[in-house]
Amino acid sequence: MPRHFLSTEDWSRAEISALLDDARLLRERPRQDRVSGKTAAFVFFNPSLRTRSSFQIGFSQLGGTPVVLDAAGTWPLEYVEGAVMDGEPEEHAKEAARVLSAYVDLIGIRAFPKFQDWEAERHDPLLSAFVEHASVPIVNMETIVHPCQELAMLMALQDTHGDLSGKTFTLTWTFHPKPLNTAVPNSALLAATKMGMNVRLLIPDEAYRLDPRFMEAGERFTEEAGTSLTVTTDIGEAYDGADAVYAKSWGRLDQIGLPMEQRLTPEDYRRFIVDEEKMALTNNATFSHCLPMRRNVKVTDAVADSPRSLIIEEAANRLHVQKAVMSQLLGAS
Ligand code: CP
Repeated sequence: MPRHFLSTEDWSRAEISALLDDARLLRERPRQDRVSGKTAAFVFFNPSLRTRSSFQIGFSQLGGTPVVLDAAGTWPLEYVEGAVMDGEPEEHAKEAARVLSAYVDLIGIRAFPKFQDWEAERHDPLLSAFVEHASVPIVNMETIVHPCQELAMLMALQDTHGDLSGKTFTLTWTFHPKPLNTAVPNSALLAATKMGMNVRLLIPDEAYRLDPRFMEAGERFTEEAGTSLTVTTDIGEAYDGADAVYAKSWGRLDQIGLPMEQRLTPEDYRRFIVDEEKMALTNNATFSHCLPMRRNVKVTDAVADSPRSLIIEEAANRLHVQKAVMSQLLGAS
């Protein structure tokens, strides 16, 4: 049974540290012939700028041959066991995963939830089907979590703050005109708590809490580390003395499945924008975001372009951390 990279939740703190150490070696020397003769398929059911380019370039820099499969909107896959396939999908994940496994040594999957039925989607069904039926390692390129993004975030934070133990990480919800995936906040919460940070989750109201499976995992990691995970709707409390501010917008889980016109975000919640006034409350905190990012809606230009902004460093780190992950999964670190 191959090992997969599905969520940082499944990897120990020591293993994550080792991946980050290797990512730094790969940053120093980007071209290393580690997977010569091997192939990888990166399958995108949703659009991408960073993930697509960094996985393709990264696997090439390791000496392998990547193929990018653009399934966004064109190749719906069935994944329900026993489904009567008389709808849109022409193919079941059972075949797709086994066929790709016959061609390649590693598969990456990007498959956002469809935001129709969270009770089913919270179990990551398409990714789970690939894990069940593929015979090669699987890398999660963003589903209900985004573990590669959060390795990149940790690397950028360590580069600035050093050891992250005991540092305060404020994960703030921000306004967005439409409800977005919770993958990045789920992963940011998992990664920051696992690496020993005190985490504050700032939400506009209780309806924006993350799924209990991620909240409970974060609580478990903080208990193990002797740190804290707090949830607050108080902006001042969340920013006070923070060392790092991480911003993301996400939709309410209890509204998934409703028509979009019923999933409106109150205009008043625009006040959660990350601005200089809020950053002044922190301990000269760094700012970051996974990108793409709506300027002057989620964050002001002044904060995004400040010397404490790590947005470009974090995005650049995607290349290095993903190469470390793929090397590890292919026994080529
Ligand atoms: N952050 C991120 O995953 O970017 P893309 O959606 O462009 O891949």
